[in-house]
Amino acid sequence: MKKPRVVFTGGSGLLALNWACAVRNKWEVVLGTHRHSVRLAGTNTSKLDLDNGVHLGHQLDRLSPDLVVHTAGLTSVDRCEEDRDLAHQANAVIARNIAEATAKRKILLIHISTDHLFAGDRCFYREQDPLQPLNEYGRSKALAETWVQSAHPNAIIVRTNFFCWGHRQRQSFSDWLICNLRDGKVLTLFDDVYFTPILADTLALAAHELIEKGASGILNLAGPDRLSKYEFALQVSTQFGLPVQLIQRGQVSHANLLASRPRDMSLDSSKARQILGRDFGSVPQYLRDLYAQEIEGRRSELIESVYV
Ligand SMILES: NC(=O)c1ccc[n+]([C@@H]2O[C@H](COP(=O)([O-])OP(=O)(O)OC[C@H]3O[C@@H](n4cnc5c(N)ncnc54)[C@H](OP(=O)(O)O)[C@@H]3O)[C@@H](O)[C@H]2O)c1
Repeated sequence: MKKPRVVFTGGSGLLALNWACAVRNKWEVVLGTHRHSVRLAGTNTSKLDLDNGVHLGHQLDRLSPDLVVHTAGLTSVDRCEEDRDLAHQANAVIARNIAEATAKRKILLIHISTDHLFAGDRCFYREQDPLQPLNEYGRSKALAETWVQSAHPNAIIVRTNFFCWGHRQRQSFSDWLICNLRDGKVLTLFDDVYFTPILADTLALAAHELIEKGASGILNLAGPDRLSKYEFALQVSTQFGLPVQLIQRGQVSHANLLASRPRDMSLDSSKARQILGRDFGSVPQYLRDLYAQEIEGRRSELIESVYV
């Protein structure tokens, strides 16, 4: 039987590559590229011009996907603060182009948003809580949500914070921890910034199930465990057998960061869990899966998958 086709924007990014690995046995995967090129077994690539709605429309007509997963964007919070116009273009305008082009062609869309949308003065934000982004990254992603909802009301807008294996051009947060601890470096992690991380594969599979259930609108897809970055690092070191004494406590309030960061980014995913009638595992389970992925070759497969 012919597999359905999924096109990813941001095909050289962390999430798209891991998502592709999670679904390539069931979906025909096309990784949409921008500046970087990608080589990943069991997938195809196609250069996409997301800045130009007309070109993008022609490219979608040619690719004829059943589903588009929009992961592309400017994900460096400080880079967004430095270049607000670029953040607006890469995070909001491109999202609107994708939403308009997919809606016009009745293509299912999963738009990836963020957990950087709130003031961070309380925990476990829900979908209906008022947005109050503290930085340009959050503001551009909040605008993207508004535009995507209005252009493509059937799209799923996923708010999340994930971890996974990265590649030579881009390390994930968990890569950064694991690589530095393996190199014996002392790391300082914030014990006053909280999040609800989820493994990229768990996120991907849950998002596909939501599509199958006909869900739409804004949905939190995050892990159930609210941890500080420091606590997460301790759990990573335990699972990967790395020296815990290399991990030191720090505070974001003492760090000299360009963009303001919310202290609490934790998301309440009970709505999505209710729709799917199941839970999404736990951080210790995600870390066991991440460890197993390394043994099974995911890390070495991805490390060389992206090049200039
Ligand atoms: N990483 C996280 O922890 C995290 C947390 C919450 C939410 N998110 C959201 O999850 C999504 C995926 O994040 P990620 O970490 O996987 O991203 P990433 O690794 O930083 O990759 C970003 C991708 O976007 C592409 N891109 C950037 N500007 C583009 C443009 N103007 N036109 C076309 N493509 C462009 C990049 O391609 P080139 O490199 O070739 O330009 C790259 O493939 C993003 O929407 C992000 O906001 C991420």
